[in-house]
Amino acid sequence: MSGSSLILALESSCDETAGAIVRDGRDVLGQFVASQIDLHRAYGGVVPEVACRAHMECLLPGVDTLLREANVRPDDLDAVAVTNRPGLIGALLVGVSAAKALAFGWEKPLIGVDHIEGHIAAAGLAEPELTTPYIALVVSGGHTNLYLVEDSRQGVGDMTCLASTLDDAAGEAFDKAAKLLGLGFPGGPRIEKAAVGGNPKAYNWKNACLPPDGENFSFSGLKTAVMYAARGRAGRKGPLLLDEAGVKNAAASFQEAVTHALVERAMSAATKRGVKWLALGGGVAANGYLRSALQRAATEQGIRVAIPPMSLCTDNAVMIAARAHVLFTSGVRDELDLETVAR
Ligand code: KG4
Ligand code: ZN
Repeated sequence: MSGSSLILALESSCDETAGAIVRDGRDVLGQFVASQIDLHRAYGGVVPEVACRAHMECLLPGVDTLLREANVRPDDLDAVAVTNRPGLIGALLVGVSAAKALAFGWEKPLIGVDHIEGHIAAAGLAEPELTTPYIALVVSGGHTNLYLVEDSRQGVGDMTCLASTLDDAAGEAFDKAAKLLGLGFPGGPRIEKAAVGGNPKAYNWKNACLPPDGENFSFSGLKTAVMYAARGRAGRKGPLLLDEAGVKNAAASFQEAVTHALVERAMSAATKRGVKWLALGGGVAANGYLRSALQRAATEQGIRVAIPPMSLCTDNAVMIAARAHVLFTSGVRDELDLETVAR
């Protein structure tokens, strides 16, 4: 990666409003992440309209403070980058409109960034030695995708999607299972905490997320299994039938099943293609059980793993700036009619 850049990046694709000023895709001069978890908790999940309003309230004041605290003048910037795909359409629009206005007003180039490519860039930040070709596993509230990342002539990396989920995303499954187990929102960290001391073999769910096609993922069957274990025949609205130890066992078995599927598919893709590196990204990558299981399995096969620090796993703008740096130094620029794409 050659060339230098000073980039202001914005991220508003889901329920975090984030901004960052990053030099050369690596040196973080300043950043903020305004989480909306408390706003959405009352509804048990992310409400798009609530997310949009909060983005509108937080984004520009956040950018003001960011510039001031990082001691950066708009004139010093080389580009304004923004997540323009995929995500909640209204939420994306808030960030994209703000970025367009700033780029226009400051007369700076605009760069649209793919959120998933941002999550993968976070792994590169953690491991500067990460080199193509590699397998990337992106696991978040909206995605569960396995990619082969190769060199492209433009130097921006070529991604081929090898597998994805047939139904729910892994993070979505964590959120739904947590709700069924009475653990609240957001589900990922709650399940991880409840699983400590639980028996991962209490329920035989190990292969529930591995559909027979041999490639993809499926998490809705596991969610139904958790529902029956937790609420019986009454379904998701029925009373919780498990005591505290039972909830711990179900959480541990659930986490084991999801982890087993993710590690199994990622390792099989990596060994099949003979790559030397595996990259992990997305909110679910903050899960300690998954991080160590993948690390262990890869080490056994002589494969190196790039995993972002926890703070760069969940949505943030540093990863968007890191990806934007690669695009910027490869000559990629967008026009002010940059589109916003939900999927
Ligand atoms: O990447 P992200 O912040 O937003 C999306 O792009 O979706 O991912 C959010 C997801 C949520 O579903 C959340 O439950 C999950 O990541 N998550 C976790 C953990 N922390 C966040 N899942 C499992 N274990 C965690 N520690
Ligand atoms: Zn994300």
